[in-house]
Amino acid sequence: MMNRGQYRTPSPLISRTSTVLFNSIEQLRETNAAMAAGDRWASTYGTHTTPTTAALEEILVAGEGGAGVELSPTGLAAITTAYVAMLKAGDHFLVTDSAYGPARRLADTVMAKMGVEVEYYDPLIGAGIAELIRPNTTAIWLESPGTHTFEVQDIPAIVAAARAVDHRVVTAIDNTWGSPGYLRPFDLGVDISVVALTKYWSGHSDVLAGATFANAELLPKVRDASTTLGMTLGGEDAFLLVRGSRTVDMRLAACGANGLEVAKRLEAHRRVGRVLHPALPSDPGYAIFKRDFHGTAGLFAFELLAPDGVSPSTAEQVDAFTDRLVALGHFGLGYSWGGYESLVMPARWSGITRLARPWTGGQLVRLNIGLESPDLVWADLAAALDADEQVAAEP
Ligand SMILES: Cc1ncc(COP(=O)(O)O)c(C=O)c1O
Repeated sequence: MMNRGQYRTPSPLISRTSTVLFNSIEQLRETNAAMAAGDRWASTYGTHTTPTTAALEEILVAGEGGAGVELSPTGLAAITTAYVAMLKAGDHFLVTDSAYGPARRLADTVMAKMGVEVEYYDPLIGAGIAELIRPNTTAIWLESPGTHTFEVQDIPAIVAAARAVDHRVVTAIDNTWGSPGYLRPFDLGVDISVVALTKYWSGHSDVLAGATFANAELLPKVRDASTTLGMTLGGEDAFLLVRGSRTVDMRLAACGANGLEVAKRLEAHRRVGRVLHPALPSDPGYAIFKRDFHGTAGLFAFELLAPDGVSPSTAEQVDAFTDRLVALGHFGLGYSWGGYESLVMPARWSGITRLARPWTGGQLVRLNIGLESPDLVWADLAAALDADEQVAAEP
């Protein structure tokens, strides 16, 4: 047994476990009782917890809040856990139009097939959501800021509307952008918070994982959904997340500061239209952002203008700009974010789907600013923006 003796380490040992062995029926009985009482260090099987995942859970809950957390192999799997915990056939589910694309797909396909009626709402609806709540509305999904279009939602107003009706309406948020600590959903009355640990918590672009946090009332439902769905996280990924957690606050602060600096410089460039960054005073969500958030992440977007500095850019111009930028070396072209390295992705290649509030802005380019010096990152951006552009239109 590894726990014997005085061998202590700052990091947890990596448990690779399916089978847990018991010395006797008495010990099996005690372990089952401890699990039922909520002891996350007690486990009868590898899908439940291991010493590595139990250590990670403690760190995560300390960072995010809530009464507990369930781990899953991806952020999307953590969203699945939340949906299954909240919804059943016949329910009406309100989803922000700014939600992460695969979260929409999951609602529109699997949940719809199971008899859930999904309705998208304007992310800026605020207290107006009260008008959309029906007798069979059981859950509201938020994502703030939306991680493609960066609208800041009025979370307290939406929570208040959910609580003002006679029946229970659960609120749940994808808090990947604001975790840990920059948005504290449980302090604002949200019931469930989902975080793609793949992003900032991991921080090194080498782990896929998700977390579904819940308050004391919803935690039994989240635990039940997670167990029923077979959600779990392997020991090596859990170990890497513990390692990432040691620096996540500092990395997030640095990425946020670097990103804001780059965003400010972009705002002043003639080929840039709107910069969609909630921590810029020019952003329409700035007042709510200052009220509810404690810091900024390093992910935002901007509208690329045509070389004349006035008209919207074409899709071909966005692609040409992206290729120029990537060739300069400090930006990777990739879908993810939250890692140590800067990334670029034009929205036209990730897709913005809208039903409640059509997207009327120009061509968006999303940037994940990492830990590099903002001067280096800016030098590449400025060179790619300033370059002469002769792009043939697609036939
Ligand atoms: C806002 C947001 N939520 C959830 C996810 C899902 O995370 P994963 O890729 O680990 O499934 C992502 C991934 O891009 C995301 O951007």
